[in-house]
Amino acid sequence: MSDKTILLRTENLRKYFTIKSGFNTKYVQAVEDITIEIAKGETLGLVGESGCGKTTLGRTILRLYEPTKGKIYYDGQLIFDGDNIKNNPDMLPFRRKMQIIFQDPSASLDPRMTVGEIVAEALDIHGLYTQKNDRKERVAELLDMVGLNREHANRYPHEFSGGQQQRIGIARALAVEPEFIVCDEPISALDVSIQAQIVNMLEDMQDKLGLTYLFIAHDLSVVKHISDRIGVMYLGNMVELVESNELYRNPLHPYTKTLLSAVPVPDPEVNRKSQRIMLEGEIPSAIDPPSGCRFHTRCPYVMDICKKEAPVFKEVEDGHYVACHIVS
Ligand SMILES: Nc1ncnc2c1ncn2[C@@H]1O[C@H](COP(=O)(O)OP(=O)(O)OP(=O)(O)O)[C@@H](O)[C@H]1O
Ligand SMILES: [Mg+2]
Repeated sequence: MSDKTILLRTENLRKYFTIKSGFNTKYVQAVEDITIEIAKGETLGLVGESGCGKTTLGRTILRLYEPTKGKIYYDGQLIFDGDNIKNNPDMLPFRRKMQIIFQDPSASLDPRMTVGEIVAEALDIHGLYTQKNDRKERVAELLDMVGLNREHANRYPHEFSGGQQQRIGIARALAVEPEFIVCDEPISALDVSIQAQIVNMLEDMQDKLGLTYLFIAHDLSVVKHISDRIGVMYLGNMVELVESNELYRNPLHPYTKTLLSAVPVPDPEVNRKSQRIMLEGEIPSAIDPPSGCRFHTRCPYVMDICKKEAPVFKEVEDGHYVACHIVS
């Protein structure tokens, strides 16, 4: 982390999706009252099983999904206030500062647009050039930056490999000179052989441009190297958040312990000693989540109180946040 100025803060941020079937209305409780801060220049990793709400949290922070409740601050400015929805600011000026890189590059690039048009679209929206030639020059510069070449501007996305397509997605995100980028599993759709290249490039960009990342991944091995801190989500809740090395050294939430026990360890000595903890049962539905602690149906240490009361997400050690009745 380069400094401790808070760039992004959420307060009890909630996102429920409404689903209607016939006369019934149900709510998918995808993100449940999450309070987090991300410092300028930091990478906050975000992990958890499929469907736990990582993408929803990332998109809700950017207001690509309208939040259901709570507050979002960006660089000290309130950009969403659930108690005062009518006065929420226009997002256009913030869109320039906050960008997203998607999981599936091929699905996120319009197949009818050339690479040049894709990368320049945001320049057009935000009026970031005065002369046509500046626009062309800026696109060439962005393609250079992500390891493509300027001739690629005239081609279409399908002419590129997955890794190159993700480079196009990254060039598009960088076009508007953002400060904050949600990287939503940017490598999980790519060949293992090129994953490291993309991660390294994102790290280089961060160093060069002073970017702040929310870096979403399925499993801990991906976020370990890139993240300053890691947040662990379970069924819409943030269950643990702490500095990366500390999460590995001293995981406190039973769910984090199970996630860590599933990460392959290169050292066989360590492997033999660490017990692999298996979770029982399926992940419950976010439409009708368990009462009390949402993890209680699968927790090996479940107590009576866990079924009745949701544990508060709080700082139990310096900078170490956990939501668990056993720990607090
Ligand atoms: N547009 C939507 N409408 C209704 N429900 C949705 C919508 N998007 C996501 N959900 C639901 O919200 C919950 C969280 O989904 P989300 O995509 O945020 O999870 P995720 O952690 O990103 O999963 P993955 O690792 O598979 O990408 C899931 O139950 C999902 O089915
Ligand atoms: Mg997702």
